[in-house]
Amino acid sequence: MIDFFEFQLRPQVLYKAGLVDDIGPEIANLGAERALIVADEGVAHAGLLDRVRAGLERNIMVAGIFTEVPPNSSVAAVARGAEYARECGTDLIVAVGGGSPIDTAKAMRILLTEGGRLHDYEGYNLLTRPLIPMIAIPTTAGTGSEVTAWAVIRDEVARVKLAFSSIYLAPDLAILDPELTLSLPPGLTAATGIDALVHAIESFVGTIANPISDSLALQAIDMISNNLRDATYDGNDIEPRGQMLIASCIAGMAFSGGGGSLGIVHALAHAIGGAFEIHHGTANAILLPYGMQFNSVAVPNRFARIARARGVNSGGRPEEDVIADGIDAVRLLTVDCGLPTRLRDMAVPEDALPVIAETALGDAALLTNPRPATYDDVLEIARSAW
Ligand SMILES: [Fe+2]
Repeated sequence: MIDFFEFQLRPQVLYKAGLVDDIGPEIANLGAERALIVADEGVAHAGLLDRVRAGLERNIMVAGIFTEVPPNSSVAAVARGAEYARECGTDLIVAVGGGSPIDTAKAMRILLTEGGRLHDYEGYNLLTRPLIPMIAIPTTAGTGSEVTAWAVIRDEVARVKLAFSSIYLAPDLAILDPELTLSLPPGLTAATGIDALVHAIESFVGTIANPISDSLALQAIDMISNNLRDATYDGNDIEPRGQMLIASCIAGMAFSGGGGSLGIVHALAHAIGGAFEIHHGTANAILLPYGMQFNSVAVPNRFARIARARGVNSGGRPEEDVIADGIDAVRLLTVDCGLPTRLRDMAVPEDALPVIAETALGDAALLTNPRPATYDDVLEIARSAW
């Protein structure tokens, strides 16, 4: 029985190959005059910045470009970016890149509109008014950050990840142009794609799943399962690239729209990513089968539906067998895409696992996990993945 649920939709979403060359009248709707581009060195090296800049300049003045964004965005980078934005007198932030530049841009807007310290706004719904406008142009198909109400920023001093959640953080416009993802190398294509898959799975099995997020999550699982291998191994093919870009956007809507439904895999991935330089998607890929195993006893029918969405034929077999096949199918997808399967191979020392488990236990993502987890449970999952 459905008692209550919430679902919020925020950004306008536009999809088209080559769209970035002329975004057009949607920029005028934002009422801005001076754009600041926020990107990272990877985007700059891929030659994407010149293209995005030229496309923007058909409709708006570009007042500056900020590319000092590290792979796991940091509090210091956000502060530097906000300072630069003030110097440029910008009234529109255009983020180009993966999760790090997009989350950096989101957090910069907090400082630009509200001032103060970033830490003051960590948590849920601490923003009370719209921030300066933002366009998000993803160059990876994974985070879904272009449509989410979330930003995750690393506190490089405390070595933890800070999570910010507010509908005001969501961008105003998301530009999905699959041509921008063609240059993404296979390893990052796979890791970011699995991040999107985890968003969809954790949203679907989480405690605040609802009919709207369910439909989005299942569609995303289907699209990712059918396209991630092709996008990884035939990166120049625009078709699977486009499918993955749309799927990661849908998965982002699924977990963010209901208020932020993630789970134990993200709780651990955040803890590991805070303590070590490991790509968020890679950490998720390693942890996913173990997190699914742990959660499957709490909501078996949900995991059976995921298995069927993954193409597992139930054929009258016991539900446990169908679920096990679904988890195996996910494991096989990560292996086929060349992703690592062990934390030990990612320079995570075994003696760090207790601290990681402790940090993960306090992560907001755990609040919507379908099965309550103790410290021992979280540590056991981390050990299994090590
Ligand atoms: Fe994620």
